[in-house]
Amino acid sequence: MKAIVRERYGSAEVLKLRDVARPEIGDKQVLVRVEAAGVDRGAWHMMTGEPRVMRLVTGLRRPRSSALGMDLAGEIVAVGARVTEFAVGDQVFGTGTGAFAEYATAKPGKLARRPAGVTAVQAAAVPVSGATGLLAVRTAKVQKGQSVLVIGAGGGVGAYAVQLARLAGARVTAVCSGGKADFVRSLGAEAVIDYTRTPLTGRYDAIFDIAGNRPLPLLRGLLTPAGTLVLVGAENGGAVFGGLGRNFHAKALDPWVKHRLKAPLSIAATSDLEHLATLLAAGDLVAPVDRTYPLAEAADAIRSLEAGRVAGKLVLEL
Ligand SMILES: NC(=O)c1ccc[n+]([C@@H]2O[C@H](COP(=O)([O-])OP(=O)(O)OC[C@H]3O[C@@H](n4cnc5c(N)ncnc54)[C@H](OP(=O)(O)O)[C@@H]3O)[C@@H](O)[C@H]2O)c1
Repeated sequence: MKAIVRERYGSAEVLKLRDVARPEIGDKQVLVRVEAAGVDRGAWHMMTGEPRVMRLVTGLRRPRSSALGMDLAGEIVAVGARVTEFAVGDQVFGTGTGAFAEYATAKPGKLARRPAGVTAVQAAAVPVSGATGLLAVRTAKVQKGQSVLVIGAGGGVGAYAVQLARLAGARVTAVCSGGKADFVRSLGAEAVIDYTRTPLTGRYDAIFDIAGNRPLPLLRGLLTPAGTLVLVGAENGGAVFGGLGRNFHAKALDPWVKHRLKAPLSIAATSDLEHLATLLAAGDLVAPVDRTYPLAEAADAIRSLEAGRVAGKLVLEL
């Protein structure tokens, strides 16, 4: 089968399109024929091996696995002996291992059925980013009428976070560069702050910090007295620990202050995917696909993401 592989960590040049053996499945796995694969920041992290602390898990000197990609949508073509949730022929979406390939393995607990009317490309744009946006809204316990600031609103996670906070009845202020202002308004943001021109102002019941790695005191200064800060991501926190230092600081401070300071990790479980699928099928949620690329152009897709050019999501179409 054709697959995007990389034998070492590095920039997009390390990605190669190769013919490799189809992956074998274990008893508790399924094999998915991939129709579309979402490109998210996680793929960039796995490609570069940064922040370096993650190499303790992914391989110290070189990646333990050459496969890349998590988000996928496709058809199940084989099921392990102990899988009861899905059968051959099911159309699914979720996360798997080595999604940038014609076939990928996945665990049933990280898949859901793709609803009729939702295309494979749309579904592949959902799992990690959609589930993370949902996690942010749930962590902050967003209520009707509350004000929510979404920093990094024009990216993959942000585009879902804006929509889901809006669906929960919040008034959303989106923070993004000026070129993405119309995009985030189309997703339901009431106000937009172009952070390249204007400092962040206002008071919010919840802040989702998805990008920018702004200091905790600055973010807490924008919260209402009992507001919640949800740290989702931070790209410029250094090559070794990334944004993790700020997450640890927030967790340590949380029990001692009135603000709630949270840094949750998303796992995109079946129940989250089913919830998102219901919203998509009902037309309440949009899969914000900026553009698609063929599998062979995965490196260009990742370069575009890295350069911050993407409004919402990129998807590889097989
Ligand atoms: N906690 C978790 O479980 C979890 C799960 C998924 C992802 N993440 C993390 O979440 C982060 C975002 O992921 P993503 O997939 O949404 O990435 P993405 O699609 O690349 O989006 C990031 C967005 O941030 C914006 N941005 C860059 N610098 C900014 C700044 N200084 N202030 C405000 N916005 C800025 C960029 O656009 P503009 O600059 O043009 O506005 C871009 O749209 C990453 O660090 C990722 O690793 C965490």
